[in-house]
Amino acid sequence: MNLQLTDEQIMMRRMVKKFAEEEVKPAVAQMEAEDRFPAELIRKMGVLGLMGVPIPEEHGGSGMDYTSYIIAIHELSKVSATLGVILSVHTSVGTNPILTFGNDTQKRYYLPRLASGEFLGAFALTEPGAGSDAASLRTKAKKDGDDYILNGSKMFITNGGEADTYITFARTGDEQGAKGVSAFIVEKDTPGLTAGKPERKMGLHGSSTVELNFDQCRVPASQMLGAEGDGFKVAMANLNAGRIGIAAQALGIAEASLEHATAYTQEREQFGKPIAAHQGVSFKLADMATEVEAARLLVYQAAALIESGSPGNKEVSMAKLHASRTATQAAIEAVQLYGGYGYTEDYPVERFFRDAKVTEIYEGTSEIQHKVIAKSLME
Ligand code: CAA
Repeated sequence: MNLQLTDEQIMMRRMVKKFAEEEVKPAVAQMEAEDRFPAELIRKMGVLGLMGVPIPEEHGGSGMDYTSYIIAIHELSKVSATLGVILSVHTSVGTNPILTFGNDTQKRYYLPRLASGEFLGAFALTEPGAGSDAASLRTKAKKDGDDYILNGSKMFITNGGEADTYITFARTGDEQGAKGVSAFIVEKDTPGLTAGKPERKMGLHGSSTVELNFDQCRVPASQMLGAEGDGFKVAMANLNAGRIGIAAQALGIAEASLEHATAYTQEREQFGKPIAAHQGVSFKLADMATEVEAARLLVYQAAALIESGSPGNKEVSMAKLHASRTATQAAIEAVQLYGGYGYTEDYPVERFFRDAKVTEIYEGTSEIQHKVIAKSLME
């Protein structure tokens, strides 16, 4: 498999790097301090075509390949993992389900709006009692004439409260488990849909995470995405590709941790020389670099597989499992190498540490990635 970047992909990397350095970096301190959703940066990302990188041009997107999209998340996340997750959720699970399962009317209306950034997308699968066991969800959608009435609640919804559309999963049949789940596109102002207060999180400040409540929420039957009862497939198929987005976010955090630690340990002197000149420190950096490189290869291999049309379940889960573990470990090491300074807010490594952990939790915990990989080994 050729993992060399094409000229177009290199240009994408250059463009996102420039945007991240010039526009995002100066905004990070305020995002951290005020935990404020970065609406203005998202608007600018829309202007640059970043909100619809892999969406075909005929639907208003940039019409680029999946690898270019992964490059965008990777580069953004090196500076702000918050923007990385906003973009990943918006694209992979907020927009792609409409591209892959939407009918012509849904595609014509929603895709140009989402791909341009006029609309922000979100994905409402998780519930207070249904996390890893997503098929045990209990939100109900009951047919009433030409509508469905939704009742239930969703938890930990990224972009929640800020998004214009929610790909929402609810039970339309009496069957238990994955069968009997259907997907709907629910618009933010639909009566009966309310968003709770943003969760106060350990990291990813600025990214909104809320509970959603559906109380007699009336949604036209024409908003159903895919066929009745196909909802779990809609969720799983898009989560699969979506997990590479989170893997790329984790890769960005890991690489940033390595780069900062490498620079700092060459400046910081103890015992009469830069601490990087001590073997114990330089070997730590060598280990970090090796893990980061392995994560990079897994992430870009998974993206190339998705681009080639393969479901790539095993490779995607391996990429997410390894990249998220690497992000957490690299950030922990970076804090350690900065010593006392690493534990203060004066340096970015404590933020990397707080932002990294959730990549091992959302869009399928590491335990779920193990389950997916193990299942594919037995097949
Ligand atoms: N593509 C298409 N269909 C798929 C699929 C895929 N990748 N994976 C499973 N399916 C289908 C199966 O074929 C099966 O259908 P049939 O019965 O018709 O064959 C059906 O879905 C059920 O499959 P399983 O029996 O394998 O399902 P399961 O209940 O055992 O669950 C699981 C499998 C992998 C554990 C799944 O529940 C899972 O991924 N859990 C984690 C949930 C998750 O990732 N949540 C993230 C929430 S979103 C989020 O975090 C976004 C954010 O805000 C950052």
